[in-house]
Amino acid sequence: MRVGVLTGGGDCPGLNAVIRAVVRKGVKTHGFEFVGYRDGWKGPLEGITMELGIEQCRGILPRGGTILGSSRTNPFKIDGGVERIQENLAKDGVDALVAIGGEDTLGVATKLADLGVDVVGVPKTIDNDLSGTDFTFGFDTAVNIATEAIDRLHTTAESHHRVLVVEVMGRHAGWIALHSGLAGGANIVLIPEQPFDIEEVCSLVESRFESRYSPILVVSEGAIPKEGGDMTLVSQELDAFGHVRLGGIGDRIAKEIEDRTGKEARAVVLGHIQRGGTPTAFDRWLATRFGLAAIDAVATKNFGTMMALRGTKIEQVPLIEGTGELKLVSPEEYAEAQVFFG
Ligand code: F6P
Repeated sequence: MRVGVLTGGGDCPGLNAVIRAVVRKGVKTHGFEFVGYRDGWKGPLEGITMELGIEQCRGILPRGGTILGSSRTNPFKIDGGVERIQENLAKDGVDALVAIGGEDTLGVATKLADLGVDVVGVPKTIDNDLSGTDFTFGFDTAVNIATEAIDRLHTTAESHHRVLVVEVMGRHAGWIALHSGLAGGANIVLIPEQPFDIEEVCSLVESRFESRYSPILVVSEGAIPKEGGDMTLVSQELDAFGHVRLGGIGDRIAKEIEDRTGKEARAVVLGHIQRGGTPTAFDRWLATRFGLAAIDAVATKNFGTMMALRGTKIEQVPLIEGTGELKLVSPEEYAEAQVFFG
């Protein structure tokens, strides 16, 4: 069997570990051949391939990014895109595809599977907001990076009696903010699922100073004010692809805190640092197990499935379970953490 592999969406620590596991087990156990598709769905769309075998996978386990490259190309948004993908797969002699990606990439995989393409999915996102799986790889690395940043910022906050606002990734979901906020001992955590009131935030800041401690706030990039709140705190700027260009809410909140409380405030935007570099051991382990399961799914022709961590087991679940609805922080989980905040 000839298997195509692609990685789509934002890069994420652990992508190379998945590719390595897919290829190693595919070659050694099943005798499969591989075709690497470059830059997500752009690869099969435009017929851009690279050689992919055990040799290409040597030394990549601890490396961030993806040796295949990535993009946010969506063939369903391109005229004739799906037909071109089907033609190129046939031309390359590809019998099955392993698609590694998040909401968009696996959304495409789900629709292609419905059209009869033999595809399996591996869930990836540092945001951890894909349903159907307890965790996605990349999340643990991002949380560790954010936690280390918070740990370091405590010293500046205390020494200078300043408010430190740490902006972390999380367009729709506050998992990175909540986990790193708890792990790093933050005092306030603002997430997209629970709109905030800037006045409440400022009074928490003041009460924190009253107890002689300088507050650390962790803010998801997608956090929003409560209805009727000041929407100028949220970016409205669009990027070249029509997506809201997030980033900067931390800075705007810091400025608002300074204006309202008279306390000095600084913001730190962690941005793509959370996605770059070497994966944690947990992410390498999870990504490797996802890769092994994905090639097993191909070997048993269990197509239209996504690999999922359920407890300690990796299961093959229908792709739609991952791409149907985003997994968000529940009000209960957020409420449970409040004892440490404020
Ligand atoms: O989906 C992961 C993610 O890191 C989001 O948290 C963030 O909004 C987005 O990617 C940023 O993507 P880009 O690199 O395209 O700006």
